[in-house]
Amino acid sequence: MTTQEELNATIADLVQPRKGILAADESSPTIAKRFKAVGVESTEATRREYRSIIISTPGLGEHISGVILFEETLEQLSLEDIAIPKLLASQGIVPGIKVDQGKGPLVNAPGDEITYGLDGLAARLEHYKAMGARFAKWRDVFHISDTLPSFQAIKSNAEVLARYAAVCQSMGIVPIVEPEVLIDGNHTIERAAEVSEDVLLEVFKALHRHRVNLECMVLKPSMVTPGKESGKASPEQVAEATLSVFRRVVPAAVPGIFFLSGGQTPEESTENLNALNSMGYHPWELSFSYGRALQEPAQKAWAGKLENAGSAQAAMKKRARLNSLARSGDYLG
Ligand code: 13P
Repeated sequence: MTTQEELNATIADLVQPRKGILAADESSPTIAKRFKAVGVESTEATRREYRSIIISTPGLGEHISGVILFEETLEQLSLEDIAIPKLLASQGIVPGIKVDQGKGPLVNAPGDEITYGLDGLAARLEHYKAMGARFAKWRDVFHISDTLPSFQAIKSNAEVLARYAAVCQSMGIVPIVEPEVLIDGNHTIERAAEVSEDVLLEVFKALHRHRVNLECMVLKPSMVTPGKESGKASPEQVAEATLSVFRRVVPAAVPGIFFLSGGQTPEESTENLNALNSMGYHPWELSFSYGRALQEPAQKAWAGKLENAGSAQAAMKKRARLNSLARSGDYLG
């Protein structure tokens, strides 16, 4: 297959009717935080057990087209000693890999952050591809305040995101482009809309600058919501605010917009996705690429005990199924 044929095939496998992506790519500190919330210590063995259980959920491939993995999991064997990418492929699910290397302060921009990971990226991708990964993910993070994010942060993060996407495509790996506008804070939904528009506009300018093939990428953005400390907006308000921004700045050439859940509860993120898909015409597929909103109930059900595997899988299957309904506007609550 040529590189272009590889990209086309992966996009076709990822962006499918009724399916979304499971983000199971928490870094070691993040998964430790999630496990602590359910009283489990994070060790290589507990991470392997938990991730092996959820990925083996019977019928997961009916609702999930791709799973984003952390490097450790890509190279792990399941509890039945099957390589994780092979296990996913046997469920008809495309294995993907998180390739950014976290974030830190952006110098001379107090309060803003920049994502790391471009150095050595091509060599890492080559290795991941040999292990079975067919798509990748890179996350930029933007904090909202009255003054943040600075233009410097928006522009610098957009630049690295586009450079990552270009490298991925040159190697036949579909890039998930994730500019996360954080939900933390007491800002209004209008302020979130303003920041999201500024961020997405610069991201697409940078993607254009770096000649990224928009038809062969997936956008993974935040929904436009008020800050976590400002109370909730209704699903219709979230959908309206999100689509107004996206119509202005996300080209119709992008095949799929797969939202992150970003701290919304599992139920909220399903209701909001359903509202987005119920609100008239939009040129892209609107789906989910949730981490917490798909996994929280499964983590609670597992609680570090192998004998709870069946309940954890039932919880995972339930959230995947409900979000797959919401992805077509068919979720009835
Ligand atoms: P959440 O859905 O928990 O925000 O995670 C998605 C993700 O991949 C963040 O990078």
